[in-house]
Amino acid sequence: MGNVILIGFMGCGKTTVGLRLSYRLRKAVIDTDKEIEREEKRTIADIFATDGEPYFRERETACLHKLIKSVSNQIISAGGGLPLREENRKLLHKLGKVFYLRADAETIYERLKGDTTRPLLQDSDPKTKIRTLMEQRDGCYRKAADVVIQVDGKSFEQILDEIEARVSDWV
Ligand code: S3P
Repeated sequence: MGNVILIGFMGCGKTTVGLRLSYRLRKAVIDTDKEIEREEKRTIADIFATDGEPYFRERETACLHKLIKSVSNQIISAGGGLPLREENRKLLHKLGKVFYLRADAETIYERLKGDTTRPLLQDSDPKTKIRTLMEQRDGCYRKAADVVIQVDGKSFEQILDEIEARVSDWV
């Protein structure tokens, strides 16, 4: 399969790192959220509002099954909640090498305050919500990951250098 997979909490930088890595490694990038939005012809916020989170989670697993059949040697940026399901973690491992971009709750809060596109953060106290979700999720992200990259305070160039070094160890 040979894909490079980026996981981590909302706002950890998966989309930007994925795009920049795609230039560096000359590989195409796929974003599971965008794939789902394209297939459903509506935004994630609409999907959550109309059909609820459980429906969205089914779509994520279906998306991974599809990628397993169709994608190799690419970069895959996974939605923040995708690695929470054990089945999805197995599928991620099949797909390639998994990099967890790990950020502190404070970093995430600063990046995402005012964001309206993430249904799970439309809360009266987003700071506490971020902290709570991160505590619940960190173990799953670690279980899913082959490599953990701590991103706080690092430039994108530094993060890309770290990922690139680990990718070349592997291929
Ligand atoms: C989610 C993260 C989002 C998106 C959805 C749910 C989550 O993706 O899949 O809003 O549960 O963490 P990003 O991590 O790309 O923001």
